[in-house]
Amino acid sequence: MSRDPIKFFLPGPTFVRLDVREAMLADLIGHRSDAMGELYASIAPKLPPIFRTTGDVYIATSSSTLVMQGAIASTVGNRVLHLICGAFSQRWYDISVSLGIEADKIEVPLGEAIDPEVVRQALRRNSYDAVAFAHNETSAGVMNSASEISAVVHEESDALVLVDAVSSMAGIEVEVDEWGLDVTLSGTQKAFSIPPGLTFFHLSDRAIAQAEGVSKRGFYTDLLRYRDKHLAGGTITTPAISTIYAADVQLGHILDEGIENRWARHHACHARVTEWAAGTGFSFFPASHRSPTVSCLLPPEGVSALAIVSALAQRGWTIGTGYGPMKPDAIRIGHMGEVTVDDLNGLLLVIDQIVAELS
Ligand SMILES: Cc1ncc(COP(=O)(O)O)c(C=O)c1O
Repeated sequence: MSRDPIKFFLPGPTFVRLDVREAMLADLIGHRSDAMGELYASIAPKLPPIFRTTGDVYIATSSSTLVMQGAIASTVGNRVLHLICGAFSQRWYDISVSLGIEADKIEVPLGEAIDPEVVRQALRRNSYDAVAFAHNETSAGVMNSASEISAVVHEESDALVLVDAVSSMAGIEVEVDEWGLDVTLSGTQKAFSIPPGLTFFHLSDRAIAQAEGVSKRGFYTDLLRYRDKHLAGGTITTPAISTIYAADVQLGHILDEGIENRWARHHACHARVTEWAAGTGFSFFPASHRSPTVSCLLPPEGVSALAIVSALAQRGWTIGTGYGPMKPDAIRIGHMGEVTVDDLNGLLLVIDQIVAELS
């Protein structure tokens, strides 16, 4: 499909195709109507191939933070271990603390990834119901090895593996079944390139069995309710019907592209940023474990990151600032969703011009 070059490179929300946005103009339907049943039946089978599972994937009308809370409330009876490497994995820990759950943490400095061997040692010291972490820490541009962490958790314990795949799913490899992930969640507004408002999530059989033994799962945060309604062919409450229309169209595009081709395109975008940075004086904030969907970069000496972001905005281009403490120092280029290397080349050229002006 031909389209204008993308000028919107936030690490979420991301660019959404016109036909996907137009799908939201469809007439509304009753959420318990036959038409909604058909819409649900159309969207439901499109999700498991993206999650790489033979199981079901459920739909919540909420941003992903609600399902992060749901994962804890539904599966953790006693104690959880959080792996923290940035703002979103910190948020997950804060959620557990806010629920009054006994929460331990392993924390690494911003820009570093979680070492699975450190997780192994923690699991030898204590027993946990679950280990929770962000696969791709959008705030720092770091990608953890979800497969290695999950393998260690399963080798050392019976704890569930809870994975925030918000900015990785539908962009880079996430193998839910092969890696043994127990709760995996992802928002529509990142690599899916669907407007914000929905979260898709999967529960393993182990996660379902463990949740059945947890007494206070809440209502909106009870992930088993979503499973039950899914089996009945719908959602637990009035869903964001218009966004589900959009999701149905875009998930079709994702499957048409092919999930592995989509992963390859994201890796190509990451490689392009890497090659460009090496020739321009930009350096990656993370020394290793760099995310293929979002690049967190430090500008050349003497050039202000915030000045780059605002000069781009004046020319009609959008990228992210650094996140939290990195806000004044870094830029974040989201190359997730529909972004191609050609789109990126357009952006990088403008950044080159801006840096020349600011230097
Ligand atoms: C890795 C990660 N986890 C969680 C979230 C929170 O998602 P939401 O804003 O949809 O609640 C984000 C949002 O940027 C994210 O990047």
